[in-house]
Amino acid sequence: MCGIVGYIGDKPSLPILINGLKKLEYRGYDSAGCAIVSGNERMEVYKAKGKVSNLEEKTQNDDACGTLGIAHTRWATHGIPSEINAHPHVSQSGNIAIVHNGIIENYAVLKEQLEKKGYTFKSETDTEVLAQLIEYAATEGNGDLVSGVRRALKLCIGAYAIAVVDRRNPDLLIAARKASPLAIGIGENNEEFFLASDASPIAEYTRKIVYLNDEELALIERGKELRIENLHTGSVDYEIKEVDLDLSMLDKGGFPHFMLKEIFDQPTVLKDCMRGRILEKDGKYRVVLSAVEQHKDILVNAKRFTIVSCGTSWHAGLIGKQLIEHFCKIHTEVAYASEYRYNDTVIEPGDVVMAISQSGETADTLAAIEMAKEKGATIFGIVNSVGSSIARQTDTGTYIHIGPEIGVASTKAFTGQVTVLTMLALALGKARGTVDEQEYNEVLRELTLIPEKIQTILQQNDKIKDIARIFTYAHNCLYLGRGWNYPVALEGALKMKEISYIHAEGYPAAEMKHGPIALIDDEMPVVFIATHHQLYQKIISNMQEVLSRRGRIFAIVTEGDEQVRKMCAEVMEVPATLACLAPLLSVIPLQLLSYHVAVAKQLNVDQPRNLAKSVTVE
Ligand code: F6R
Repeated sequence: MCGIVGYIGDKPSLPILINGLKKLEYRGYDSAGCAIVSGNERMEVYKAKGKVSNLEEKTQNDDACGTLGIAHTRWATHGIPSEINAHPHVSQSGNIAIVHNGIIENYAVLKEQLEKKGYTFKSETDTEVLAQLIEYAATEGNGDLVSGVRRALKLCIGAYAIAVVDRRNPDLLIAARKASPLAIGIGENNEEFFLASDASPIAEYTRKIVYLNDEELALIERGKELRIENLHTGSVDYEIKEVDLDLSMLDKGGFPHFMLKEIFDQPTVLKDCMRGRILEKDGKYRVVLSAVEQHKDILVNAKRFTIVSCGTSWHAGLIGKQLIEHFCKIHTEVAYASEYRYNDTVIEPGDVVMAISQSGETADTLAAIEMAKEKGATIFGIVNSVGSSIARQTDTGTYIHIGPEIGVASTKAFTGQVTVLTMLALALGKARGTVDEQEYNEVLRELTLIPEKIQTILQQNDKIKDIARIFTYAHNCLYLGRGWNYPVALEGALKMKEISYIHAEGYPAAEMKHGPIALIDDEMPVVFIATHHQLYQKIISNMQEVLSRRGRIFAIVTEGDEQVRKMCAEVMEVPATLACLAPLLSVIPLQLLSYHVAVAKQLNVDQPRNLAKSVTVE
């Protein structure tokens, strides 16, 4: 939520900031702004409601040439999206400007105290309070900005990633973080530094990145070596990492939207995800995951797995539970991270808590694993963003390696997560001796064929586009699946509601008759996931129940299935596969369906209203 960019160096900062904000727009897009500091105590502040392109337009004819600047793209938490609430926020004297990602939970108390000291506020934001607080603390400390930031942050409760500049000092950029991510890019010979919420806006300028840790403050001075200090203990050493980011993944590659590109990326990125992990010799397959090799004892002897995650990652977790219980015979629970973190969870020896997260920055998931770690659980991460906060909090884990996911609606991350969960369950099942040899080989072989099978589903894109037109008239729809495909029903419904704004419910198909069946009429599309696996006959009975109430059925079926076709308004075919791998195929037509419905409704597919890609607030 919210993206931050900063630059100090020898080039005009404005184009670098705008370019960086565009890469971070997935984190929020209800307003954007920047502050450019040039010599002679000049600071230009620009703000625009809506997209970064509006800010770009607004700044186009200005001659702000300062080589120090900070910028922000906002996802509103305190105060409506408006220019006044947009960042940067400037202190009362006009000297200090700040951009912020996170929430200052005690901002109301701090605001009241500052008001008593004569400070007035223009916006409804917690960030303006922080700007004034920094100014107040700096003034109290003889005007020293660094000690002002340090003292102000010690008074704040909550989460922050901030960048601060002072109109009177064009040579200093200050950054700090607690529970919200921040990366610093180091240019050649310390001639320039880049700051951003993640590495994507930095990677085209430098691969040398330092990730700030919680309660660290960075002093970035022109031409000097980067200094980092802990808010409480002073100067700390830091590690410079080399990031390996495929920059071609950061553009649409000829597709009209990131979401469509990422759906079509799946065959390639799933191969990347399996590369070097699934090995074959003479028709014999084996899976090698370094996390399982290195932590075999703990994982093999695990008494219970608890998967914590949110949204789409939670749906992948539901499949993970089935995989781990099936192949490893280990009791597995799946919890919403936002609930789990506040539960009186009992952690016992042998408990492994598994965080699944695409961004690696989801605040609830991060807090859930911190809580579990404190209570003694081993933490396993299934994360996409390398070096992210969640990845760094885990004891071990497996990256999904599917490249950056930019479209707000998660697609390739889901199939990447399920692929990793499958490999993990098989590797662990093998190590525990709980998986049948023949099944182990068969599932791994079939898993390597999944990318080609997804490719054949993608060829139905035009057909699914036609089917999508029917859905544009719907106000509600129901997604029903059973067994391995039940989480796919949930995921299909989530995709539909988040980008098409059509109310969609995912349900276990047999549960329908305990309530949702009352909704069925000839106006509500009912999507069945009816691939040819266990419970197939039972799904057909559930379909009969819908037909008897004049429901219109759209189904995901296994290629060549005539029985279900006869019962449906339309079918979307997927190639045959093993039951445990069915979700990897049956989710694809549902991703395409939601995409085309949103496009047909002329909605903003990549940036749906009210959402942000990375939910770094509670
Ligand atoms: C849905 C979606 C969200 C995320 C959720 C968790 O399309 O993208 O539901 O899955 O916010 O995010 P991560 O996986 O980054 O922790």
